[in-house]
Amino acid sequence: MQFTTTDSSVTEIATDCLIAGLADAGLAGALADIDQASDGLLTRLHESGDLPRKAGQTVLLHSVPGISAGRLLIVGLGKAEKLDGVAFDKAVKAAGKALRQSRAASGHCLLAETEVIDRGRDWTIRQAGIALIYADYIYAATKQPKDDAPPATESVSFPTGESVEEQLRQAAAIAAGVKRARDLADLPPNICTPAYLADIAGKMAVEHDGLDVEILEEDEMRSLGMNALMAVADGSANRPRLIRLSWKGGRSGDAPLAMVGKGVTFDTGGISIKPRDLMEQMKFDMGGAAATIGAMEAVARLRLPINVEGVVAAVENMPDGRAYRPGDVITAMNGKTIEVHNTDAEGRMILADALTWTGKNLNPDTTVDLATLTGACVVALGHHASAVMTQDDELAGELLGAGQRSVDRTWRLPLWDDYQEQIETPFADMKNVGGMPAGSITAGCFLSRFADGQRWAHVDIAGSAWQWGKPESGTGRPVGMLVDWMVDRAGGWDKI
Ligand code: BES
Ligand code: MN
Ligand code: ZN
Repeated sequence: MQFTTTDSSVTEIATDCLIAGLADAGLAGALADIDQASDGLLTRLHESGDLPRKAGQTVLLHSVPGISAGRLLIVGLGKAEKLDGVAFDKAVKAAGKALRQSRAASGHCLLAETEVIDRGRDWTIRQAGIALIYADYIYAATKQPKDDAPPATESVSFPTGESVEEQLRQAAAIAAGVKRARDLADLPPNICTPAYLADIAGKMAVEHDGLDVEILEEDEMRSLGMNALMAVADGSANRPRLIRLSWKGGRSGDAPLAMVGKGVTFDTGGISIKPRDLMEQMKFDMGGAAATIGAMEAVARLRLPINVEGVVAAVENMPDGRAYRPGDVITAMNGKTIEVHNTDAEGRMILADALTWTGKNLNPDTTVDLATLTGACVVALGHHASAVMTQDDELAGELLGAGQRSVDRTWRLPLWDDYQEQIETPFADMKNVGGMPAGSITAGCFLSRFADGQRWAHVDIAGSAWQWGKPESGTGRPVGMLVDWMVDRAGGWDKI
């Protein structure tokens, strides 16, 4: 989907589909103009209850008299006093879906006319762009769309205005990062292996000037002492990779922001094998890796004026004659010993060494890890929020704020020392599970022992990285939150 701008009047725009929002206050702005041009058609439809009243409902009208557009798509915005960023985002996504269903090759978006509570005009335009591209997504890697399936919308124009083009350019960059993450998460685990993730990172580095890649293979990881990561990796014929994407947009020597992603390309649970039902969903256990790679794509497209590192620990967790087992004691890269109680707690094992490696080699200002780490996180927060865990209140504030602004929301769970004792064991410095209570937090406690001395936060995306229906798919979260955070750290949207 390409974005353009136009200053034609609403009635004269030559487009396949005009997209306008209708709040409870009634016909206003562009819709009032169209109503006038069509001799009160919209007023009559509104009075007979045929226009959308609820937020997210859509109505498609063809051949409206008095306008040049072929179709008019009206999306309900609900009560104006309830139209916050989240509600706006949902409404635009509903409109975007209907736009594609309408088979329009081109559209003109009037939704950014809308007043959104606590949001400025730049935000509204940018988010409209991101949401339209998001809604246009269809998985096609291993399934041909039917011949009669609606094609992608080729272009959407917005009304000309100050900095509109800039917002749309930023929207396209972020949306490309989100799409990258969804594409990767949706791919099946026989295609999306650790080697495949490394290849994609390599291709991105070729595509984007200023983006560099470094890939560590198993011999190197073993000689670095990454035994926790290798313990998981050794159960699979799909050999591991440590992937590093570097964006050098800042001054050389400036400490980078670092993301570290869990890239378990398939999680069977290993010897502590998972039940068969729904095991296929564990292809998205590389959601943290997908978000890291997707965020790096957006960073490169935005050409952020800071240094950013994206590190991905890519492995597959399989049961096998070489697989690690419950009872094993493993010495991690930082010298700490881990007693394995459950091989299904593999994410924290690989992140342990990835965090140590990042802290040692990349001199990060701040490190944020992203991981589909615990089922307990889905129990706690469902699918609406990613969980943030950190002992640094300021960093928690940054990530909560970024989640709020990008409508890619995060919620904090406490990482108090009180929880640490749950992962104590007589046989090693720690065990890799902490029992039933606060399962997400004890996973965070485990990771904290490998982020010593770093300004660090853990983000559990087990619930947010995947949507169960409509259709089942990766969500590309939390790329939006991460990019907003990094832009903020780079000085804000006006500075980039
Ligand atoms: N990848 C899973 C977590 C997960 C489960 C994500 C369901 C999304 C949906 C992780 O590797 C895992 O298996 N965690 C275990 C930890 C337990 C053994 C302490 C879990 O949550 O059951
Ligand atoms: Mn697991
Ligand atoms: Zn896992």
